[in-house]
Amino acid sequence: MIATESNPLLDGLQIRRRPEPCVLVIYGASGDLTQRKLMPALYSLAYRHLLPEHFAVVGAARSEESDDEFRERMKEAVRKHARDEFRQEVWDELANGMRYCTLDFSDAAGEDQLTELLREVDSERGTQGNRVYYFAVPPSAIETLIREIAARREGDGWVRLIVEKPFGHDLASAKHLNELIGEQFAENEVFRIDHYLGKETVQNMLALRFANGIFEPIWNRQFIDHVQITVAESIGIEGRAAFYERAGAIRDIFQNHLLQLVAITAMEPPSDFTADSVRNEKVKVLRSLHTPGPKSVVRGQYGRGFIEGQEVPGYREEEGVSPTSMTETFVAAKLYVDNWRWADTPIYVRMGKRLPRRETTIAIQFKRAPHPPFEETAAEGLRPNVLLIHVQPNEGMSLAIGAKVPGQGMSIRTVHMDFLYGSAFREGLPEAYERLVLDAMLGDATLFTRADEIEEQWALVDAITAAWQRDRPAFPNYAAGTWGPPSADELLHRDGRSWRRH
Ligand code: BG6
Repeated sequence: MIATESNPLLDGLQIRRRPEPCVLVIYGASGDLTQRKLMPALYSLAYRHLLPEHFAVVGAARSEESDDEFRERMKEAVRKHARDEFRQEVWDELANGMRYCTLDFSDAAGEDQLTELLREVDSERGTQGNRVYYFAVPPSAIETLIREIAARREGDGWVRLIVEKPFGHDLASAKHLNELIGEQFAENEVFRIDHYLGKETVQNMLALRFANGIFEPIWNRQFIDHVQITVAESIGIEGRAAFYERAGAIRDIFQNHLLQLVAITAMEPPSDFTADSVRNEKVKVLRSLHTPGPKSVVRGQYGRGFIEGQEVPGYREEEGVSPTSMTETFVAAKLYVDNWRWADTPIYVRMGKRLPRRETTIAIQFKRAPHPPFEETAAEGLRPNVLLIHVQPNEGMSLAIGAKVPGQGMSIRTVHMDFLYGSAFREGLPEAYERLVLDAMLGDATLFTRADEIEEQWALVDAITAAWQRDRPAFPNYAAGTWGPPSADELLHRDGRSWRRH
């Protein structure tokens, strides 16, 4: 266990600027994301007095709803999903500034009505014409909205756009969207969300690497044998068949969350922590990623199986999924970053739905000691050093080292040095969306994806999916509750390695 030196009163309460007055407009306010993530995040920010002093939320969606009905629905969402206890006075303060606007996204008249409402809110709440627009809508709806918002810009207030994933469907559509946004807005007004960057443990990777002198000298091909990144989920598609059938694991997770984890693990130290410096370094990694050949990518789809003792249906049996669907729910790949730091060092990645448990980890496996002076039998139980970052759950990290087993003679075994967020810090971890919504209000884009990063990510995905057109694997090829198809294991066995023991 590692003890921290800190003032417990300040844990998790770093002194940050309060954002300037603004209205947050949520397009897609009747959707799941607003209820599960956005509103609970706003509540937690209100709970900690981190929201602007003059603030309002305007929900916009197609369904008919009054302001009061919207507030009531959001209140239930907060009660159900917020990480903090429900306090009436915190809720009242937030709810007082909440309004709702029924809006057909393709109809300009609706946008006029919204503009009128926003003016009214400005005068009631003192929000000074500053706007954050959150697009929790499908990419097809964004285009019209972007044009309408740009056409209605007025006064001195600032505008920021938060764009949810998926950002496009492939490189061409993402480029088109970037161009469209770029014609009307400056890059520093655009915040493309990848909520993994809002996770504390992902940011801690930057702290680990760049705030400690001991890791950087060994963070390279000379000392690292390989890296393994796992993004495993035990859940299925949760009623999102229409979306998932088109996206699959490669567009849902690999294109964004997974590649961002690769970029953060492999990037060079930025010269400062500004949005441009950090993103300049990440995009260099994405650009240096070697396109994997067909033998280096494995895809899978789950069949019927068991999760925690419960029988669950196969992907093709899920509601809304075609019984002959070729959509992948699992991807594993061997990636290489072609630069001096990483040449010939594989980064094995795997991600999937209906795997045995929810687990996101980054494992840095170091090379073996060059010449252990012990008898072979002494070190039989010894595995190579691994630095394991637990992104979630059980957030923290663990370093596997060899230690002498107490007693006569020399016998060495692997032990773990652990750091757990839960015991080192008193304050619970904020939800990713709290951090990201607040950062967007503050105009800080460091933890958002830049246009060029998104495009590099799509270029790699397009290359992989183009190769997939040529063959039809026999799906389903793994049972729910297992670690993917056997070919995922073979991918590492061929190199004389294996996935970390589960
Ligand atoms: C989303 C994906 O981006 O991330 C979902 O669309 C996935 O399919 C989710 O379940 C996982 O997020 P988290 O924070 O639970 O790891």
